Amino acid sequence: MVSDKLKFVTKSVEETYKMAKEKIAPLLKKGDILILNGDLGSGKTTFTRGFVEYFNINPDYVSSPTFTLINVYNGTELVVYHVDFYRILEGNDVFFDELMEMQDKGITLIEWGKKFIQEIEEYVEGDIYILEIKRLGESEREFTFEKYTDN
Ligand SMILES: Nc1ncnc2c1ncn2[C@@H]1O[C@H](COP(=O)(O)OP(=O)(O)OP(=O)(O)O)[C@@H](O)[C@H]1O
Ligand SMILES: [Mg+2]
Repeated sequence: MVSDKLKFVTKSVEETYKMAKEKIAPLLKKGDILILNGDLGSGKTTFTRGFVEYFNINPDYVSSPTFTLINVYNGTELVVYHVDFYRILEGNDVFFDELMEMQDKGITLIEWGKKFIQEIEEYVEGDIYILEIKRLGESEREFTFEKYTDN
């Protein structure tokens, strides 16, 4: 159901890895986008480490794409693209065209993706999901997962 929200509270990095790998990653398929939304240091990159493990990608390969803008992790069945829009001030057509051309080969996680949600919606053919991350305490995080559109 499109409107269903999934909520998880984790109390450690290890719990976040496990949740990302076991509860969220199995819900996405090739061509889908997952927007990671949450303050600096909330856990977007940490979540990604757990997420990629489900696709047989070594979590040690995951690093913050803040300066590279996009990191590519090759799994056995598909590719996980890890994008960061934090430093992108404005997106042009070429930017979104290129970004979205890769979609059919894998799943794309976009940190700060909410900034350009309209453009993403316009260019993407797969489903778009949003994960909101809230810092509840030093090592406690709340994750809310929901489908944004049904393309
Ligand atoms: N339960 C938890 N889940 C995830 N991270 C946690 C948790 N508890 C503590 N942390 C810590 O929170 C920090 C999360 O950092 P991370 O780089 O994943 O955030 P980010 O949202 O990607 O930040 P940025 O916006 O700077 O890219 C790490 O230092 C991690 O150890
Ligand atoms: Mg990050």
